Amino acid sequence: MRMVDIISYKRDGGTLTKEEIAFMVNGYVGGVIPEYQVAAWLMAVFFRGMTPKETAFLTEIMLDSGAKINLDGIPGPFVDKHSTGGVGDKTSLIIAPLLASVGIRVPMISGRALGHTGGTLDKLESIPGYRTNLSETEFRHGLVEDGFAMTGQSRDIAPADKLLYALRDVTATVESIPLITASILSKKAAEGASALVFDVKYGSGAFMKEKSQASSLAHSLVNTGTAMGMRIAALLTDMDEPLGNAVGNFLEVEEALDCLEGNGPMDVMEVSLALAASACILGGKASCIEEGLELCKKSLQSGLPRKLFLANVSRQGGNMKHLLEMRKNYRSQYAVELKAEQNAYITRIDAYKVGLAGVYLGVGRNRVEDAVSPLAGILLRKKSGEWVDTGETVMTVYAKDGAGLRDALPLLKDAVSYGEIKPKKKPLIG
Ligand code: URA
Repeated sequence: MRMVDIISYKRDGGTLTKEEIAFMVNGYVGGVIPEYQVAAWLMAVFFRGMTPKETAFLTEIMLDSGAKINLDGIPGPFVDKHSTGGVGDKTSLIIAPLLASVGIRVPMISGRALGHTGGTLDKLESIPGYRTNLSETEFRHGLVEDGFAMTGQSRDIAPADKLLYALRDVTATVESIPLITASILSKKAAEGASALVFDVKYGSGAFMKEKSQASSLAHSLVNTGTAMGMRIAALLTDMDEPLGNAVGNFLEVEEALDCLEGNGPMDVMEVSLALAASACILGGKASCIEEGLELCKKSLQSGLPRKLFLANVSRQGGNMKHLLEMRKNYRSQYAVELKAEQNAYITRIDAYKVGLAGVYLGVGRNRVEDAVSPLAGILLRKKSGEWVDTGETVMTVYAKDGAGLRDALPLLKDAVSYGEIKPKKKPLIG
């Protein structure tokens, strides 16, 4: 087998066998096939695509390139949730304890903020003492005791994905549906998830800007995951405006707690409940969405999900008492109010611009090695469809330092659109 033949075959629209894909991936990971040939192959895939079968082969080969988390001996059902990333998306913090409360175990392995999108690990680590680098034993222990555990990806999960993703990043080949599918599913399968609910987001703050692209990705994830023997559901949700009123690490933990106490913003609740209801079906706890919604709402009212969330905070090293005391008081001294300059309706708050401003503030990062701030963030006092008078506060902005505040403010100002006509409410899901 020669790599040059595999490249030219794909370049001309051919369909590769599992052996050919394995030759390429394993050769690259093993240092036998050079980066320039894999880069050429990635570009061929970018233009020619892959069949569902080829995508499943690539996923399996990437999965087999590393270790798998062993959940043997822990009673299920297990269901994980994965979001394609957005701004203000704290739904994992709500869904994990909520599902645990109805008897579904959630082995949640999350990522960090990168670019304009937030990361669950950074949010959790804003709780003083909270650890997200659990050993497998600690991860299993949390799953058994609280019904869920939250950790970061270990080094030995899908190493082929790490190498291929880094190459895609510098060869303009990230935005390929089959490559994204294999990248996400190989990691999720390695993490022991046999059932998964995907939140595939679309809109300015999402990875996929167009709903049609998000829909193609959702279909590809469902078809490939199903072909690999996993149970998969996918929801398309709007990410044109930040989700909820809080964007920022500790601010989002606070808002997640509000949701667990029944006082959360309606949009966060709607998306969280829809995803949780789908997970209830996958986990065999409900036969339809309505039943799943009912089950989740009832459980929230019981207070058990909040209790489990706080139990998890303590188990993973966070100071639960401190968290509850700091709530609404733990704020950066670098703060400013952004005021409306006209009497008008807010017609849009651009999630991408808010997320980008968040990088200057210290919510997110441009490079993986950059540090984030627990206190940086934005509290949206108004959202689209609401009326504001001149001088009324639209957002309260918190930064890691004065320079961050100065750089973020023009972007945040620009993120808000005003108009005389009240905008129509867009559906959040679907
Ligand atoms: N997220 C991933 O994990 N992989 C991709 O390829 C894109 C987004």
